[in-house]
Amino acid sequence: MHGERGWCPSHAKDRAHIGPARPVYDDAIPEAREDAPAHMRTEVNEILLGVSRTLGLLSKKEKRGLFLATFVMLITGILTNAPAVILGRLVDRLVSGNVISFAIVVPFIILLSVIVLVREGLTVLRKYLIENIATQTNKQQTVKVIERLLKVDIGGYLHQQQIGSLYGRLFRSIEGLIGILKLSFIEFMPAFFGAVAAIGIAFLQKPVMASAMILVIPTGAFLIFKQVTSQKGIRVALLRQMEVVDGKVIEMLAGIETIRVLNTVNYEVAKIEKSAEESRKIEIKHHIAMALYDAAKALNEGAFTIAVIVLSIYLASRSMISKGDILVYSILFTNITMPLRQIHTILDEMSEYSIEVDDLFNILNQPLDVSFTEQGADAKISENTDKPAVSVTNLSFAYPGTTDITTLDAMDLTIKNGETIGIAGSSGCGKTTFIHILLKLIHGYKGEVSLFDQALESISREELAGKIAYVPQKPFVFSGTIKDNILYGCQRTVPDEELLEAARNACILDEIQQSLGGMDGLVSENGNNLSGGQQQRLALARVMLQSPQLIIFDEATSALDNTNESIVQKNIERIFKQKTVITIAHRLTTLENANRILVFHEGKIAQQGDFKSLSETKGLFQDFLQQRGTTPEVK
Ligand SMILES: Nc1ncnc2c1ncn2[C@@H]1O[C@H](COP(=O)(O)OP(=O)(O)OP(=O)(O)O)[C@@H](O)[C@H]1O
Ligand SMILES: [Mg+2]
Repeated sequence: MHGERGWCPSHAKDRAHIGPARPVYDDAIPEAREDAPAHMRTEVNEILLGVSRTLGLLSKKEKRGLFLATFVMLITGILTNAPAVILGRLVDRLVSGNVISFAIVVPFIILLSVIVLVREGLTVLRKYLIENIATQTNKQQTVKVIERLLKVDIGGYLHQQQIGSLYGRLFRSIEGLIGILKLSFIEFMPAFFGAVAAIGIAFLQKPVMASAMILVIPTGAFLIFKQVTSQKGIRVALLRQMEVVDGKVIEMLAGIETIRVLNTVNYEVAKIEKSAEESRKIEIKHHIAMALYDAAKALNEGAFTIAVIVLSIYLASRSMISKGDILVYSILFTNITMPLRQIHTILDEMSEYSIEVDDLFNILNQPLDVSFTEQGADAKISENTDKPAVSVTNLSFAYPGTTDITTLDAMDLTIKNGETIGIAGSSGCGKTTFIHILLKLIHGYKGEVSLFDQALESISREELAGKIAYVPQKPFVFSGTIKDNILYGCQRTVPDEELLEAARNACILDEIQQSLGGMDGLVSENGNNLSGGQQQRLALARVMLQSPQLIIFDEATSALDNTNESIVQKNIERIFKQKTVITIAHRLTTLENANRILVFHEGKIAQQGDFKSLSETKGLFQDFLQQRGTTPEVK
């Protein structure tokens, strides 16, 4: 990204402008940006928003499926209440005569059986429709959210997250989405339609009874509303607490060796225990409140049940309804109170799921890294150019939140095409930061940067991947075979001989064949079954298969022994002859053959020259050599 020229780090006012690039939103999920923040929304709004967002993520076909499922639920609701009426009529028939004839019962039983069979058949159909949509949504959203995470601004969102917490949040947020779907369409709606059908049937039969029965709803609804609203904060607190534990566990497992060597197991366990105790305290408070609300709801329901029975007996005694109707109304009333009983758990869980869906939208709505959204970033890097490979003018950069510390300070640099450059400098002086800018991994710098005469911002990620090879300080080695790891990122089919040659050039072929189980040998997660040097050599073999114009090694051979390092270094020089190579190394002998060495110091290039001239000149480079006992004479 082109910045303004002439920025000077001593201008504190200007310095404040350095920071992450302006967020770039895409239009994939527009509505999430317009919503009020989660803490400002009421619980009911939260739930409604959660439901509408969930529905918004569904395709037309899936929405049609939901519509069909809703229609099926309506029929099932009627079928659930029909047995009450049939039983009422049966009782009337039974009590009307002096002798009970079994033949009277048969048609009723047949009718009841048919109703139950049809109802269960429809229930299976409804569950299939919903589960099908839920599994599809689960798959699609998991893919979408992971793709999003891989494309967000590394320096912004990802650096603010504890990776373990993010991982937990990610999968819970998808669970929340599926939870809303299932809870709405498998639990809530059937109960709701059942109750609506019960009220409808009661109204058709005896409006006065129906009116008495629905009086249970206002008090029940009030209690449920109170119950749900009083617990929202607790749900959020529990969720966040869980994320804290997730984050700690992942962090601990990554540092298990250090924990063991320092014998800090008890200390780590105490940390987890503290978090778990905090969760427990929140949870028990929640359960006590729930128990009290449940009791109030049961009392409300009990009082109305008695009222409905008394009223129906009174009406029957006055022959206003039949005896069988006493049974009909008590069953219908149970069907009305059923959703009231369930709805709290449903709403309670819905409010938690809504928070999780909020998290999902939050992740899905994270701005994409600018390198994925730049318009017109389609410049091609030409191979035959006399123009410089790298050209940097007045480059300054400070990490977000550290505006008083300037990592790169008005740096000017030109690297000729085909030049081999070494970069030296003390730890933390900005070497990796400089490389990350060239690779468009961080943005928001000031000054101008071009690669092969193309402004950095006009080069697409794809073009960059094709023309620049990079071996980072911490190689990316993943679970899979050795071959998978070496071929990673390679866009073409690689013949076996070439694969072996790449491994040989990276000085790892013998180990692959003798002790790592061959090319199909398995690498465990994060390359944990490989030594640091083996991981680095796999990453080096990977780069040997590429034909880039610019190759960047950031401490890529630091974990190799001297012999391997020197062989690999020679192979690199041979394979990437004529190419532009930038090598960062603390081991200065690695840089011996570089055309030019840049010595970074406090965000500037303090010295430059070839190895010989720098080692003979008083200054930082000579100091480094002396500290490492590698003065030219000693070499
Ligand atoms: N993501 C980040 N956020 C904030 N500060 C950072 C970040 N990454 C690096 N820094 C800081 O920027 C400075 C330069 O870091 P950089 O990684 O570029 O150093 P380096 O020269 O590559 O060091 P080393 O030789 O140890 O690899 C350091 O002070 C570091 O603390
Ligand atoms: Mg570094």
